Amino acid sequence: MLASSLVGYAATSFAAGGSVEVLHWWTSGGEAAALDVLKKKLESQGITWKDMPVAGGGGEQAMTALRARVTAGDPPTAVQALGFDITDWAKQGVVGDLGEVADKEGWDKVIPTALQNFAKYDGKWIAAPVNVHSTNWVWISKKALDAAGGKEPTNWDEFVAMLDKMKANGITPLAHGGQAWQDATLFDAVVLGLGTDFYKAAFIDLDPAALGGDKMVEAFDRMKKLRSYVDDDFSGRDWNLASAMVIQGKAGAQMMGDWAKGEFLKAGQKPGTDFVCIRFPGTQGAVTFNSDMFMMFKVGDDKKAAQLQMASDIESPDFQSSFNVVKGSVPARTDVPDTAFDDCGKKGIKDLAEANSSGKLFGSMAHGYAVPAAIKNAIYDVVTRHFNGDVDSKEAAKELVDAVAAAKG
Ligand code: BGC
Repeated sequence: MLASSLVGYAATSFAAGGSVEVLHWWTSGGEAAALDVLKKKLESQGITWKDMPVAGGGGEQAMTALRARVTAGDPPTAVQALGFDITDWAKQGVVGDLGEVADKEGWDKVIPTALQNFAKYDGKWIAAPVNVHSTNWVWISKKALDAAGGKEPTNWDEFVAMLDKMKANGITPLAHGGQAWQDATLFDAVVLGLGTDFYKAAFIDLDPAALGGDKMVEAFDRMKKLRSYVDDDFSGRDWNLASAMVIQGKAGAQMMGDWAKGEFLKAGQKPGTDFVCIRFPGTQGAVTFNSDMFMMFKVGDDKKAAQLQMASDIESPDFQSSFNVVKGSVPARTDVPDTAFDDCGKKGIKDLAEANSSGKLFGSMAHGYAVPAAIKNAIYDVVTRHFNGDVDSKEAAKELVDAVAAAKG
């Protein structure tokens, strides 16, 4: 319906039948519901879905499982992957070529350059972007916000004041899971909150003066402050269980990418009524993005048609709408109407377009779009040790410079 309303969009048919084996980490309630939209679409075309889920938010475990499959010479058809990981696999010469479908469907014209930089390697399409997520969001329980005075915080001081009130009201102010990628997701927002130039200098340019300077010490101090609003049982907690704390009113807010919205929706909650979505205070206008892509591997001729069909299905405008409405993300194409999206989704689409045109769209460090895995992991390590109280803020900023330098090699 939606597709036919888009002038110039023509769906392609590559396969009826065949099978795809898909490696992914979409195992939470909201994620599984979104994945189901893709599964059903393929199944309606007679394509068999062979599921290879590898649990673990952020996808680290999935990447380890992938390495084993590729080493064994038996890669899956399609693999959920992020940013620099895709480029790294492309360098190994093991990925497929989606040129046939991308050219026919004009992906070049509708997928933003920021995504093409990762979905293409050496000028060739190797991955199909599913969505755009972003990490500088806060998800707040409406009830807890109202009890704390009802004002959505717009800067750091107001945010702290809101969390203090929530604490006084007897709930855990900040729901968080102590896993390195979650700590790093908070860090994305905190660093961005200290300025877009600062974020760019630190995480995109890896400028030692930004990584080790006074502002970075301040960023770590803010992380320490945030830690004081987290409950004692946070260690190892999965991100979706942290979302559940907000959904159930046990916690006030969660700083997390917009995949968290998928959990609220799955629980039957509505934006504006049950929960509120805001950009992390001080970051409105800027966006730290990550985009889930299905990276395609070299497969035998018997599997090629189904693989191309899967890529084509993913980029169809109607799928981009129906999938992302459930997932919490926004479309990876610029020509998909926002009509089916709720207010948070509409805001996400608008924020992304604005940040893109004002030069304030940056790859997420925590989710593999700012730096390659080796450097990302070096940053994770410092951030997590600091969050757990092992090093103070000054020492952490110093260690960040050394860790990044060592990882760059
Ligand atoms: C992915 C999301 C996913 C989240 C938690 C992120 O890296 O981009 O699609 O929902 O991790 O698993």
